[in-house]
Amino acid sequence: MSQENRTILVTSALPYANGPIHIGHLVEYIQTDIWVRFQKLRGHDCTYVCADDAHGTPIMLRAQQEGITPEALIARVADEHQADFAGFGVDFDNYHSTHSTENRSLAEHIYLTLRDDGHIARRTISQFFDPEKEMFLPDRFIKGTCPRCGADDQYGDNCEVCGATYDAGELKNPRSVVSGATPVRKDSEHYFFKLTDFEEMLRAYVRESTQPEVANKMDEWLSTGLHDWDISRDAPYFGFEIPDAPGKYFYVWLDAPIGYMASCRHYCDRTGRDFDAWWGKDSRAELYHFIGKDILRFHTLFWPAMLHGTGYRMPTAVFAHGFLTVDGQKMSKSRGTFIKASTWLEHLNPEYLRYYFAAKLGSGVDDIDLNLEDFVLRVNSDLVGKVVNIASRCAGFINKRFDGMLADSCSEPALYREFVAAGDDIATAYEQRAYGQAVRRIMALADRANQYIDTNKPWVLAKEAGREQDVQAVCSTGLNLFRVLLTYLQPILPAMAAEVEAFLNIPEMRWSNIESPLTGHRIDNFKPLMTRVEQEKIDAMLEDSKEHLEKSPATASSGALAADPIADTVAFEDFAKLDLRIARIARAEHVEGADKLLQLTLDLGGESRNVFAGIKSAYDPAALEGKLTVMVANLAPRKMRFGVSEGMVLAAGPGGNELFILHPDDGAQPGMRVK
Ligand code: MSP
Ligand code: ZN
Repeated sequence: MSQENRTILVTSALPYANGPIHIGHLVEYIQTDIWVRFQKLRGHDCTYVCADDAHGTPIMLRAQQEGITPEALIARVADEHQADFAGFGVDFDNYHSTHSTENRSLAEHIYLTLRDDGHIARRTISQFFDPEKEMFLPDRFIKGTCPRCGADDQYGDNCEVCGATYDAGELKNPRSVVSGATPVRKDSEHYFFKLTDFEEMLRAYVRESTQPEVANKMDEWLSTGLHDWDISRDAPYFGFEIPDAPGKYFYVWLDAPIGYMASCRHYCDRTGRDFDAWWGKDSRAELYHFIGKDILRFHTLFWPAMLHGTGYRMPTAVFAHGFLTVDGQKMSKSRGTFIKASTWLEHLNPEYLRYYFAAKLGSGVDDIDLNLEDFVLRVNSDLVGKVVNIASRCAGFINKRFDGMLADSCSEPALYREFVAAGDDIATAYEQRAYGQAVRRIMALADRANQYIDTNKPWVLAKEAGREQDVQAVCSTGLNLFRVLLTYLQPILPAMAAEVEAFLNIPEMRWSNIESPLTGHRIDNFKPLMTRVEQEKIDAMLEDSKEHLEKSPATASSGALAADPIADTVAFEDFAKLDLRIARIARAEHVEGADKLLQLTLDLGGESRNVFAGIKSAYDPAALEGKLTVMVANLAPRKMRFGVSEGMVLAAGPGGNELFILHPDDGAQPGMRVK
């Protein structure tokens, strides 16, 4: 990337104000923070804003459940979120809320402009309504019996057992999750944003979006046809009332991205910076949104259309990332891998996680896995064993024998230049969000620095007469190489870099400062910079994360995890009709277009079966292959949207990512009958 001064505005998605920040969220905030810190380190004018996403039905209901006002809930959560972010070194220039005067006035302005230009339509639609709570019910708040497979307790839009998707109207015995009442149909007038008006513009825009996966997704949406977007919700709703429509509120996703602007507005009022320089039509600033792949549609279709329709500039690019798994599986409360940011901070150094995520992150939308065993090895060998080791091997000699003074000249100018020259590739990798690549380059340099020290052995020289100057030269070079490495690592390890600034007695690091080495310079006393990760701390953290589930009143009262009542008795002959067999999962694959299903090829010891299982949210297919499980082998074959399912695997748990397939004890063989 060129060296000219760039003006850059960066956002991360606004976290919902109804729950705590967890390590899944942190993938995004750490990814963004590293990028922003890198730009600042390079000397660019880069501003990072975010906010809490404070509106919507779940937040309204959550506040009711806790017996407090939504305002009190979002104020408390705002404090918690910001403490979590600060704990992980995520350094926003401004953090605001979508429930703010700035956001209200921007949302009204954008809506009224779109309306006056004819981009808003009104239509009456019929929706499910809870007659007891007197509120309309989003699909997620209706449960009932699946119309296809008869599984009970399924959501209004899809079945987690058989993978069917349907209309809430097709559910059998539907009930409101809020009150338990049977929902009724009710008409209401809704407001729609005519996205189709922007089809041409979006087609041109898609070509500018940088990630190929994102462009492909957009192409797909554009070719299957755009639809008007329902932007209104009826009272009761926690949000902003629509100006010309009493009792109607903006849908949370209408004012959420406007929250990016609102946070900027708030920042400008605080600092005197120019809002239009970022958002005006003629802005020459770069604008980037970092988001998870689950919210692409809002950022690549609705949001650019809203901006364009109102005369603002559009984002330069949207950078989407994948989802976090822990040890190959979705984060899970019962396994203790649903780790809250605050729980991590009680047990482990946040920079361990920043480093591990960085080492794993690339520029694409692939999911990333936190493998706890690999995590311990990597942090200990790279950060403690390689990087910190360089300083701890050199600093003692300089502190004790030379009163903290580094040598007057650099004894290894070629080696030093090699380190500085590597900066270009490292910078390119950061710029492209290929942090894993940057980390590999930096660790290769750390190996070089350690080799240099190993070869020159200052601890041996120190015992030889007349070699004083050589000791100082070798250790000074070691510390200069260390300074270059820490400058490269500063975006990832800001807290450690700050300690190194103090120890080396240097001003705040800048990429351009490493051009020449420190010579004739006095450093401060060395203090240990980072300790090894201890397995016991990880175990304790997982244990704490487990307890959290049992203690949480919110989950206990939601009903979703309540134990299933024991079913009516059946005669033994009826049970014996089931042919249960041990099966080996020979292959497990994703199913194109299915949200919940994995396609399993089961080996019954000679016979092979194709089974679709609703376990996608709980398992990574790769983690299943080779495992033994139990299947119902004589279930009548069922034709599903994706093919014929020839049986069923047995799993326990309420569903979603809390689902556990059954494994037989050691010794069981594929094909054995289960009795
Ligand atoms: N409120 C919306 C965003 C509005 S932006 C105008 C929202 N909030 S969220 O709290 O659910 O998620 C915030 C961000 O964290 C999203 O980009 C989401 O993709 C990301 N992640 C949430 N869980 C995640 C993982 N398990 N793994 C990686 N990213 C995750 O969506
Ligand atoms: Zn079903």
